[in-house]
Amino acid sequence: MRDLVDAIRPLLGSVMSEIGVQESDWNNLLAGSTDSTFADVALPCHSLSKVLRKAPNTIADEILENLGSTTEGICQVSSINGFLNFSADPNWLCEILQESLIDDRLRVLTEEPRVIVIDYSSPNVAKHMHVGHLRSTVIGDALNRMLSHKGHRVVPENHIGDWGTPFGMLIEHLIDLGLDSEAQHIDLSTFYSDARAKFDADSDFASRSRARVVRMQSSEPETIELWQMLVDRSLIHFNEVYQRMGILLSNNDLAGESKYESALPRVVEKLAEVGLLEESDGAKVVYLDGWKNREGEPLPLIIQKADGGYNYATSDLACILDRIENVGSRDFLYVVGAEQAQHFAMVFEVARNAGFMDEGVNAIHVPFGLVMGTDGKKLASRTGGAVHLNDLLIEAVERADAIVAEKSPNLSKDERAEVSKMLGIGAIKYADLSTDRNNNYTFEWEKMLSFDGNTAPYLQYAHARICSIFSKDEIDRDLIRDSEIILTHEREIALARALIRFPESLDSACSSHSPHKLATQLHNIAQAFGSFYEVCTVLNAENSTKLSRLALCDLTARTLQTGLDLLGIDSPHRM
Ligand code: ARG
Repeated sequence: MRDLVDAIRPLLGSVMSEIGVQESDWNNLLAGSTDSTFADVALPCHSLSKVLRKAPNTIADEILENLGSTTEGICQVSSINGFLNFSADPNWLCEILQESLIDDRLRVLTEEPRVIVIDYSSPNVAKHMHVGHLRSTVIGDALNRMLSHKGHRVVPENHIGDWGTPFGMLIEHLIDLGLDSEAQHIDLSTFYSDARAKFDADSDFASRSRARVVRMQSSEPETIELWQMLVDRSLIHFNEVYQRMGILLSNNDLAGESKYESALPRVVEKLAEVGLLEESDGAKVVYLDGWKNREGEPLPLIIQKADGGYNYATSDLACILDRIENVGSRDFLYVVGAEQAQHFAMVFEVARNAGFMDEGVNAIHVPFGLVMGTDGKKLASRTGGAVHLNDLLIEAVERADAIVAEKSPNLSKDERAEVSKMLGIGAIKYADLSTDRNNNYTFEWEKMLSFDGNTAPYLQYAHARICSIFSKDEIDRDLIRDSEIILTHEREIALARALIRFPESLDSACSSHSPHKLATQLHNIAQAFGSFYEVCTVLNAENSTKLSRLALCDLTARTLQTGLDLLGIDSPHRM
């Protein structure tokens, strides 16, 4: 990215050699200007004090004097308390915006492509998706879109929970219900809990279930057929949720625990080969330096239980081998709740120690906080259970529909349905994506659906408003892209400054796996647009001003639409 630092580098260069500072010294200075943004740079001159034996403010003054008029048309410079502050000049902003205007990618550069596996969503078979899967699904999908846009090959993997001991009881329950020929009648809302209740209450059922686990592990065809039925039924449900939500995942991205089942013995072998495996009460485990349980005793990672069964961790280790050997990736992101931090830290450490992955492999847990209710506790349904994701999505669209009906009575029935869907789903996603993922956030319908504040409807409305400016005058937006941008009004300049930071905000959102950094900048842009449009007439302005302002409108709309799209949110043209 060409930013203000690049523009001032050659100017500073000649001044520095004049006042006797070596290149390495002042380059450090530039690199150390951490407060810098795309169009504003603050240089602390303190580090030059030793070299020049002068006070920082004297140095800053001297550099300022030497720069003279060379910065004209590029930036304004001031010297304050030993800092040199460079602030982009409208001329320079115009040049950058002019580039954005004719660029379909809005100056977003692609990176050296990598193959990046993103492990996200990952619900469990035979259960409804609930609010606990919301964040993984929404954040993972946004990272998928953002990193793909930066030129990477993203391999989404949906690590569904589709194997393990609970399937014994689930299959027996399926047989008891006599639904084995009509899987579509399985009611996922109660299926798992009914099976669990029976398992706990009925010892006969429990022993049948245990025997069923053994039959399943030995791949008995009849048992596998019943298992497959549960998986298929669940996939119908998952896909319905994904479709309603606009999530990119499909059946091609499934990489559930069952996929790694046959690779588990090899994990045990390989761990034994390198001498990491130890026995503990009949189980095969790995002890890692420094990991202790609450009692202060060494905490093992259990690889194979005493009864021969494998663990969640074993499956994740097999998965790492697969990603390296078969997928050919060296970058793995795991978008999973913060409560699994210890699991991933231990799995990664074992995989490193065992030589499954070398230092160059980036296995990163991308954790997130909880979704809270307005009562300050983890969001729960009225009966205290987990809130079904599907119910939340349906309610979001219904609530959005009531708002759209009131605000835009002129929309046709079809158009209203479409807009309500974009608003409702967008509101849920944006409420999640606009908060730092490390924090908890409170799920509040009124707030997320509000047309004011940092919300999806606010951004979507800004976009739709611009589209209506163009449609009112039947202006060809392609032609506007030849216009010359002139920045004179302070609110035009403020909007320009917000717009040019779009690529920078996307880059930092990608590198920190934090979509809120992009969301925050989109909100800044929408706000800057609001202030601009409040006082700057567009359609009634004099010709060259009108064209320039229309170009600013076009850029704003395209930036909002592209940015929202990268977050997985639609932008209606009318609302
Ligand atoms: N199915 C798991 C759960 O619901 C999440 C799986 C996350 N991914 C992984 N590779 N472990 O907790």
